[in-house]
Amino acid sequence: MSKTSTNTTIRNLLVTGGAGFIGSNFVHYWCDNYPDDKVVVLDALTYAGNLNNLADLQGRENFRFIKGDIRDRILIDNLLVTENINTIAHFAAESHVDRSILAPDAFIQTNVIGTFTLLEAFRHHKQDSSQKLFLHVSTDEVYGSLAPEDPAFTETTPYAPNSPYSASKAGSDHLVRAYYHTYNLPTIITNCSNNYGSYHFPEKLIPLMCINILLGKPLPVYGDGQNIRDWLYVIDHCRALDTVIHKGKPGETYNIGGNNEVKNIDLVKMLCQLMDELAPNLPVSPASELITFVKDRPGHDKRYAINASKIREELGWTPSVTVAEGLRQTVIWYLHNRDWWEPLLSEEYQAYYRQVYQ
Ligand code: NAD
Ligand code: TYD
Repeated sequence: MSKTSTNTTIRNLLVTGGAGFIGSNFVHYWCDNYPDDKVVVLDALTYAGNLNNLADLQGRENFRFIKGDIRDRILIDNLLVTENINTIAHFAAESHVDRSILAPDAFIQTNVIGTFTLLEAFRHHKQDSSQKLFLHVSTDEVYGSLAPEDPAFTETTPYAPNSPYSASKAGSDHLVRAYYHTYNLPTIITNCSNNYGSYHFPEKLIPLMCINILLGKPLPVYGDGQNIRDWLYVIDHCRALDTVIHKGKPGETYNIGGNNEVKNIDLVKMLCQLMDELAPNLPVSPASELITFVKDRPGHDKRYAINASKIREELGWTPSVTVAEGLRQTVIWYLHNRDWWEPLLSEEYQAYYRQVYQ
């Protein structure tokens, strides 16, 4: 990697999936914090990818967007060379469990074949291997489901994925690990808990509830609402990835989590209270009157919880935002960004919604 006059390492990053939820937050974070680095986003713009997430970066020096598929080997080979890429931050994925239950094919294609294609291209990319990093952004869902009294997931918890989504992410994690051990490709895997924040596509729990409250629509809680997730504000995830890119050790895995275990029903009630407080003229008030228990998700994991002591103790990362503060910021963002989410409630989205919530 080249050095600036202040001796800061310059990175040329390829960010896959940079038009999605976490990827776009990461791209903003990176451009703000490392303006001298080059950021090239590769994104296929599936239903979950949205160029509006990056609108304010278009035209900026050191930023480029390329529409393309991570399975396209020729495109990736060319990009790695022409953009002189030395770091891949790999976010691109099919990411929604409910869609993976309805139609798993795309999950195998993108999450497994796509990751394999990127690894192969990076392995053959002619660069000094000591200067490379392949950061694979993965999920805690690969570890399966915890019972109420189980200890939280550590980096050595055996993989036990239960949905086509988590199984496909587990498959990609195994490939990334193998490329380190077999080819000495400098890879790092991060397994993170549930994220929330701005630019989150409407189908996921928190944006779905925020939007339905604003529209006065039922708030569909699966099963008995007692399932537990460990929530992390997306900016804290980006900070953790920054820490891992700069201080992480190739070949290692780092769990990332907010230490914020919340039952789904309690989370939905918190969102209702925040909306009651912050949103003028809600169609239904109090918003909690909209809560509706619906048919459970097949194979619904009961509980996820992350033990993040490795990244805390070895790399010095801790989350900076409490769940109360992060949820407040998120509710405010959905209140003020109707222009962002309204166009996403398309005919295709309505058809998906009817299928899941029939
Ligand atoms: P997302 O669904 O919002 O975004 C995924 C992005 O990938 C989209 O922009 C989409 O267009 C792009 N994409 C999909 N298929 C592609 C392909 N074949 N080629 C190129 N681009 C493609 O997902 P997200 O929530 O931002 O998640 C990003 C990553 O973080 C995923 O790998 C996911 O497994 C992981 N993760 C997510 C969470 C979470 O809570 N959302 C938690 C832990 C880990
Ligand atoms: P989700 O945001 O889909 O993330 P994940 O399944 O990857 O954890 O869902 C979070 C939790 O909320 C999960 O336990 C399923 C539940 N859920 C509902 O109860 N209702 C909904 O409409 C959605 C989308 C999720």
